Amino acid sequence: MTDPQIVLTERVQQALANAFGSEYADADPLIRPSQFADFQANVAMSLGKRLRRAPREVAQAIADQLADFPGTVEVSGPGFLNITLDPAWITAEATEMLADPRTGIGTATPPQRVVIDYSAPNAAKEMHVGHLRTTIVGDAMARIYEHLGSTVVRQNHLGDWGTPFGMLIEHLLDIGEEAAVAQLEAGQGTEYYQAARAKFDSDESFKTRSRQRVTTLQSGDPETMRLWHVFMEATIRYFNKVYEMLGVTLTDADIAGESMYNSMLEKTCEDLEAMGVAVMSEGALCLFPPGFTGSDDKPLPLIIRKSDGGYGYASTDMAAIRYRVDDLKADRILYVVGADQALHFRMVFAAAEQAGWLPDSVSAEHVQIGMMLGKDGRRFKTRSGESVKLMELLQEAVDRAGVIIADRGYDEETKGEIAHAVGMGAVKYADLSISHDSEYVFDFDRMLNFAGNTGPYMQYATARIRSIFRKAGVEPESARGPIVLGVPAERALALHLLGFGAVVDQVAALVEPHRLSAFLFETASLFSTFYEECPVLKEGVDAETRASRLALCALTLRVLETGLELLGVPVPDRM
Ligand code: ARG
Repeated sequence: MTDPQIVLTERVQQALANAFGSEYADADPLIRPSQFADFQANVAMSLGKRLRRAPREVAQAIADQLADFPGTVEVSGPGFLNITLDPAWITAEATEMLADPRTGIGTATPPQRVVIDYSAPNAAKEMHVGHLRTTIVGDAMARIYEHLGSTVVRQNHLGDWGTPFGMLIEHLLDIGEEAAVAQLEAGQGTEYYQAARAKFDSDESFKTRSRQRVTTLQSGDPETMRLWHVFMEATIRYFNKVYEMLGVTLTDADIAGESMYNSMLEKTCEDLEAMGVAVMSEGALCLFPPGFTGSDDKPLPLIIRKSDGGYGYASTDMAAIRYRVDDLKADRILYVVGADQALHFRMVFAAAEQAGWLPDSVSAEHVQIGMMLGKDGRRFKTRSGESVKLMELLQEAVDRAGVIIADRGYDEETKGEIAHAVGMGAVKYADLSISHDSEYVFDFDRMLNFAGNTGPYMQYATARIRSIFRKAGVEPESARGPIVLGVPAERALALHLLGFGAVVDQVAALVEPHRLSAFLFETASLFSTFYEECPVLKEGVDAETRASRLALCALTLRVLETGLELLGVPVPDRM
């Protein structure tokens, strides 16, 4: 573990135990970055009260225990400890990190089985920008846990079942399979749905046929199932186009849609009822997890079987949570889903706990995805008021990126590749650079800006370092140092880079990918300052300094590229 803040925490805790007894060994030393040193420890201030001693005296007692510390420890002001690390320590750690194929990233101990429910668009409706965000955030987390050595089970909980499928299948028969497939593959699910809906509302015989079709579908009639498959496969081919465009890791093997749980629903209800967790209320089978009340102070129901015998979203989620714990053997289940479903998931988790289906050893977490807003501050829509087509939106990002790099002298093919990487990088990074639960305005101009905490800026930072190596005629992999720290900009950069592994751990623990983005952005900023102040290839730079600075460039490049890869943001070689 090279993160200086963690190393320091451990050292100061040891000092606390030595000075005041083992009961102080796990007090938080409150290590923070400092204006006056590398770090400061603020623990003496609060500990002074507890020990009834002057904080300065307490601070001095801690400092005395740190006599062999690789750096200087000074008591300052009313009782702060200012800590400055030895450059030799930083250098040694940075050089070790450069030699480490994992660039300071550890492995999860013990490795976990993490089930991640993400993306989950609905068939028969256009995949919209809200699904874009759950897809991007979920995929970044999947990459991160896998990189840490955990086993990730992706679950794409497609909306692929329910009463609307009666009319969707009848509409398919009306317009013909071929025409239906073409329309669905082209991503016109919304239009398809609307056409079916219009007939359902105006044509009595269509309505009757559709209702009958729901019954034959539920009974598993082979021809109806075949038609359902035709419909779903065309829809999934469109989803896959979106996934491919985005470069997300979801495959058909990860599809575990609502339909998959059909055969489990009856037993799910039976078992819950037998346990007494589910009870009949006004003709419906309901769960009443403790602690949930409606506006009238009455217990709030989670309906798992409607009075007409039908199952719904909640029934499926009860079956799914049991399946994920028992069959998928999850240690941790993440539901990367819109924040507006928070109550639903709290109730599902509480009911599953009540039923004993969610043991303490397994954590179920709703990773809330904030709403995507338009420039008017309302839910993101096109001018005509419909929800925006995802594929068109993604294509627009690529086209705009193409315009930005148009006059950089690349041939058509290279230009196409860079535009794709910049466009997708911009859209993805925008989702990953702010906390997943905050609402934000979808704004191409901001996300495609080459300055600020954006995808293109991060990509540009890596491309710039790659170009330094091209100019030097050296491969980044062969830059080994040794690293020597002369000026403050070098020191600040090296010290910061050492925190990489700890940030990745933190992101995995908290499910907060934006912390990694923030770390990478700070990396790029510190690199800029370093590069302004520290010539690398200029004539007159001696061989030792040049080798050290190239090594710092290489380490920065590795951190940026690894970090962006973990986020799923593509990194073009040049821009
Ligand atoms: N299809 C749902 C939607 O678009 C999301 C499903 C999330 N996963 C779940 N297990 N409920 O809102």
